[in-house]
Amino acid sequence: MPHGTTITQFISEEQRRAPGATGDFTALLNDIVTACKMISNQVNHGALVGALGSAGSENVQGETQKKLDVLSNDIFLQCNAWAGHLGAMASEEMDDIYHIPDEYPRGKYLLTFDPLDGSSNIDVNVSVGTIFSILKCPGGAEKPTVRDFLQAGTQQVAAGYALYGPSTMMVLTSGKGVNGFTLDQNIGEFILTHPNMTIPADTREFAINASNMRFWDAPVKRYVDECLAGKEGPRGEDFNMRWIASMVAEVHRILTRGGVFMYPMDAKIRSKGQGGKLRLMYEANPMSFIVEQAGGGSVIGQERIMELQPEDLHQRVPVILGSRNEVERIRQYHEEAT
Ligand code: AHG
Ligand code: MN
Ligand code: MN
Ligand code: MN
Repeated sequence: MPHGTTITQFISEEQRRAPGATGDFTALLNDIVTACKMISNQVNHGALVGALGSAGSENVQGETQKKLDVLSNDIFLQCNAWAGHLGAMASEEMDDIYHIPDEYPRGKYLLTFDPLDGSSNIDVNVSVGTIFSILKCPGGAEKPTVRDFLQAGTQQVAAGYALYGPSTMMVLTSGKGVNGFTLDQNIGEFILTHPNMTIPADTREFAINASNMRFWDAPVKRYVDECLAGKEGPRGEDFNMRWIASMVAEVHRILTRGGVFMYPMDAKIRSKGQGGKLRLMYEANPMSFIVEQAGGGSVIGQERIMELQPEDLHQRVPVILGSRNEVERIRQYHEEAT
């Protein structure tokens, strides 16, 4: 009896319908899938393989790296460097872009990734993930520079994430909707289990790190206050709240049952001279692409995230994404405050 559609079959059939497809993109996605399966295996084995705990180093973001941040980064580089589809890669865990070693051919795509998202959750055995984005290299296959990576999110060819949760899942978009696959550990294949994922336009659930409440800007405070006021407040509804501290897990919940996720600009972030908490190239853009493809919205406040012109590889931005009508409401609150 057939087991269902594998991710390889799904991607191949999707690409077969794409005009001028060479097979490079399909092969690149296959390598990314392999990398995520390897990371999943390490995450699953956790303490058994000595994978937990700190690596004792700091990344360019000023964060202490976990062993699994470093290991996942290495796995991603190794799985994706050799096949000849990429011009270069960039990661949350590396200061500079990674050039494809001279021993390997170069290709027309660029890959950016957050190898392990939510890494503060590793040691407590809560869901983590991997986020990636694929761009075309504007300069072709010549040696790419940082400037080649600085493309607006609207230019993304594909984006996806792997979620290492109770089951391992892969969620993908290449601009034709969003599809979810579950890893069957027995056969080592991702199987299509969540075709055409869509985000309900309305929701009664929001996610924000409320410990930052005293730093929030007025529009965010207004929105959350109104949610917290419940049935007696202006919304006339009771709201629920969630905060996992793994963006992958939050976005996956929103893709499954709706909701809003916010890591907004606040006074504390501003005082550090940062543009936000989350990274535009590794987190905000790929997740925005997925969320918009599923019918949701994604803004920094007033502006759409995917229209931002990136200025720096490691640029940080505020993120407000999820159910379309709620995101639009928060966007309006920002507009009214200016
Ligand atoms: P990463 O583990 O890749 O550095 O990302 C963590 C991010 C994101 O996944 C999460 O939503 C947020 O940081 C959590 O931040 P707080 O610890 O401030 O809640
Ligand atoms: Mn990090
Ligand atoms: Mn992250
Ligand atoms: Mn990370």
